[in-house]
Order: sequence, then structure tokens, then C-alpha cells
Amino acid sequence: MMQARHEHYEVGADCMRRIIVLNAKGGCGKTTVATNLASNYAVRGFKTALIDYDPQGSSLGWLRARAADAPPVYGVAIRESSRLPLAGVWQTRIPRDTQRVVVDTPASLRVVDLVGRFSAQDTLLIPIQPSAVDIRATADFTRDLLLIAKLRPQDRRLAMIGNRTRRNTGAFQSLQRFLDNLKIPVLEHLRDSHNYAVAAERGLGVCELPPPNGRHDHKSWQTIMDWIEMGAVPASVVRVPGPVPPVAVGPALPLPAFLTKPWGSHTTEEVPVLVPKNLN
Ligand SMILES: Nc1ncnc2c1ncn2[C@@H]1O[C@H](COP(=O)(O)OP(=O)(O)OP(=O)(O)O)[C@@H](O)[C@H]1O
Ligand SMILES: [Mg+2]
Repeated sequence: MMQARHEHYEVGADCMRRIIVLNAKGGCGKTTVATNLASNYAVRGFKTALIDYDPQGSSLGWLRARAADAPPVYGVAIRESSRLPLAGVWQTRIPRDTQRVVVDTPASLRVVDLVGRFSAQDTLLIPIQPSAVDIRATADFTRDLLLIAKLRPQDRRLAMIGNRTRRNTGAFQSLQRFLDNLKIPVLEHLRDSHNYAVAAERGLGVCELPPPNGRHDHKSWQTIMDWIEMGAVPASVVRVPGPVPPVAVGPALPLPAFLTKPWGSHTTEEVPVLVPKNLN
């Protein structure tokens, strides 16, 4: 098991940060991404909470399976509301000194229920699988996020993670075309690997599996963690002691033409179809 360490990240004792994993499409990997993020934070020594907002309770099931000697993750189930709780509400449910909060959300989450529920400091991650059905559903969800929740594609707090990727397939090429059109950062493409199921059964992240398991996935998770911790936070929060690998984000992306109008003046009809028509 990995030693607890903060690596080169600024923990920010006074700075609780939230990472919300969301996509209305079921089965795209929200719980897998959320639990692996919680694991990555915990092994790096962050005081980590995992909020399970899904009535299925999969994230808390993962937590229940977690070995007592594994780096701790504090779990909270939120069931009572059909709307994602406001930031202040979350804070009353977790230990006061929590440094990172990972939120797992349910399938069929409606974007209208998200409006005003996250802050400019929250990071939003959208897992997406390479299949026509997943791409279409995620396109609708993302369009709603951009229009209704008024996020912008180049916002450093919004990113996609490809999941269960098998390169050299038609489905993967369709996904690539979709992501290229969208102009939202794609942090990584996670492998389709049995390790995810093995780790989930034990309440671990893939990076906590004993070597050599999970070895190939370390780099993917390091890239994701670097982007969240060093690419998405304001420069004032980042402390860089000594040499640090370059942050894996590109330059700020240009705003697509359809989003250059003032906020609030769009109609749904104005939004271009984001999915290539020739999906197969
Ligand atoms: N990269 C991966 N490789 C292999 N299996 C994976 C991978 N990602 C997810 N899975 C498996 O796919 C299934 C669905 O994943 P997961 O539960 O994370 O999706 P979800 O989006 O949370 O689903 P729901 O919408 O029902 O909450 C699980 O059995 C999980 O173990
Ligand atoms: Mg889930």
C-alpha cells in the first residue's frame, strides 16, 4: 500500500475543495471515478470525505469494504433531497478540518437541480464511455451544463474523463470526434481493466492494489490529480516547492462561437448539435 504523502500539492488547511463527479448517463463510471479520487486523496494524506448523493449508495458500499488500515476516507450519505445540497449544507455533515470532498452523484441528475448548487471553486468531472448511447446522453447533459448552469467549456474547473477506453475502435474514434467538438479538457482515458472491479470489491482505488496490479493506471490518476490540484486551482493557492512536473493542461481554449453571446440570451435551438451525426 502507498505511503501517505502530499506530494507537491498545496493541501490548503483552510481551503476545503470539492470535486463533483457527474453525468446523467447511468453506468458511465461516476462511482468508479469518485471512489478512485477519494482513494488518491487519502493515500496522499489529505483529510478526505466522500459524499454519496446516489440512493444506490455504491460509494458508501465501497467505503464499507475499505480495510481498517487503509488511509481513511470519511463517508456521508445524502438521501433526503432531490437536489444537490448547497455547499454550506455539505460542510455541516463532514468534519470541520476536511480538506477534499469528493461527491458521487446519481444517474439522471437534472442540470436544473444543479443551478446555484456549486461554487466557482468546485471542480466538476464528467466521466464518459465510448459508445454512441453514452455520447448522445453526455452531449445533452453537457449542453445543459453549459447553457442552464452557465458553465463555459474553457472553465478550468470543468473536465471530462474518458472511461473504459479501448483505443483503435470505431466507438473510441466517435468519442474523440465528440470531445474535439466540445472543447472541454479531457484529462485522461481510463483503461477498461478488471483492476477496477477488483479494487472496488476491497474498497480500494486501483492505485492502492499491490504491485504489479494497477501499475498501468498510476500515470492516469497522477495526471487527473495534477490537473485538479494544480491546473484548476487559483495560482494563489498553489505552492510549488522544488521541481514539479509540468501541469498536463493545454492553453486556455477559445470560446465556441455559439457561446460568445451574452449569458441568458441563448435559446436551446441556438446550440449546435454536439454529436457527430454519423455515429455508429
Ligand atoms: N475503467 C473501467 N474498467 C473496467 N470496469 C469499469 C471501469 N469503470 C467502471 N467499470 C465498471 O462499470 C460498472 C459501472 O461503473 P460505475 O458504477 O462507476 O458507474 P456509475 O456511473 O456510477 O453508475 P450509476 O449511474 O449506476 O451510478 C461497474 O461495475 C464498474 O466496476
Ligand atoms: Mg454510481
